[in-house]
Amino acid sequence: MSKEKQSSQYSGKVMLAPMVRVCSLPMRLLALDYGADLVYTEEIIDRKLLICHEYKNELLGTIDFTMSDGTVVFRTCAAERGKVIFQLGTSDAKRALAAAKKIQHLVAGVDVNMGCPKEFSIKGGMGAALLTQQDKVKSILTTLVNGLDVPVTCKIRVLPDIQETVALAKLIESTGVSAIGVHGRTKSERSRDPNRDDYIKAVSNAVSIPVIANGGSKNISNLSEVESFRLNTEASSVMLARAAMWNCSVFRRDGPLPFIDVLKSYLRYAFLYDNNVMNTKYCVLQIIHDKMTEIPEADFSLSAKSLQEFADIWHLQEDYRVILHERQQKEMELSAAEGG
Ligand code: FNR
Repeated sequence: MSKEKQSSQYSGKVMLAPMVRVCSLPMRLLALDYGADLVYTEEIIDRKLLICHEYKNELLGTIDFTMSDGTVVFRTCAAERGKVIFQLGTSDAKRALAAAKKIQHLVAGVDVNMGCPKEFSIKGGMGAALLTQQDKVKSILTTLVNGLDVPVTCKIRVLPDIQETVALAKLIESTGVSAIGVHGRTKSERSRDPNRDDYIKAVSNAVSIPVIANGGSKNISNLSEVESFRLNTEASSVMLARAAMWNCSVFRRDGPLPFIDVLKSYLRYAFLYDNNVMNTKYCVLQIIHDKMTEIPEADFSLSAKSLQEFADIWHLQEDYRVILHERQQKEMELSAAEGG
């Protein structure tokens, strides 16, 4: 694929931003259903991916990367092929390349997390620790750009100084990446702090690859507000994290849906892909968000211990029953085929 073509995939798009625990398969598929152009995985650390085993899960129709104890680290399926961007956590070029090579046949791009301010990332030399290590940034991105067949991008936070932020973005552009995601907060700023839209705008004006603006969720609940954020930052594209986590239908052209509808659609995907219960609970609670005291189902969801309980709480018993029945049928077909 030409460099231009690789970059155009990130141009004029609205995307689901990477979020640990939130961006597993059900949320990604939901975002695509509602109209997101691209969806990021949660950050997955290169070391973890390297010890995973790739497994074709015939029963669910997915490809799984699992650890020896069966933990699913990355689950993907045909419905998101060409739309899913895999986000890597890394501090080392060779390791990043080896990990990315394991999944590149399944994804539309590989993104490097250069913005995570969590202690775990910083101590490991990953995430925002990379923002001040130019040589490492260069070697990781150049190695990935040269070694992979899919487009490579990275997602940064801004530096305290606007000119230094622009200089970093230019250095990143020089490695041959296809686009750059910019969250308009510094490593030490939190989500309550204002997003530095002017820093993103300065980057947009300084580089020629697509800039993906991020950090605007507080003021975004529909696509016209996404467009205002894009115009304000003069970026090519926008990626949404919290706005999508709270109400994934923010991506809908016809306007967002009531959160209960979104929650139920999320659960149907969680059932369909046998999503981990704790992960499902986390996402359900994020969707309920600030309405915990308004609905009785919220408290029940807090103590739910199985997908069946979620089906009971949210009156989705029939949906879950059909899914389980079809899975059982499939299981019988598979074992008959094996036997024959
Ligand atoms: C995040 N963020 C994040 N960023 C990233 O690059 N990789 C990740 O895995 C995560 N994980 C994550 C989890 C959760 C629960 C949240 C809320 C956020 C940061 C996120 O992608 C984004 O940069 C910020 O949330 C700001 O954008 P919004 O929320 O204003 O759209």
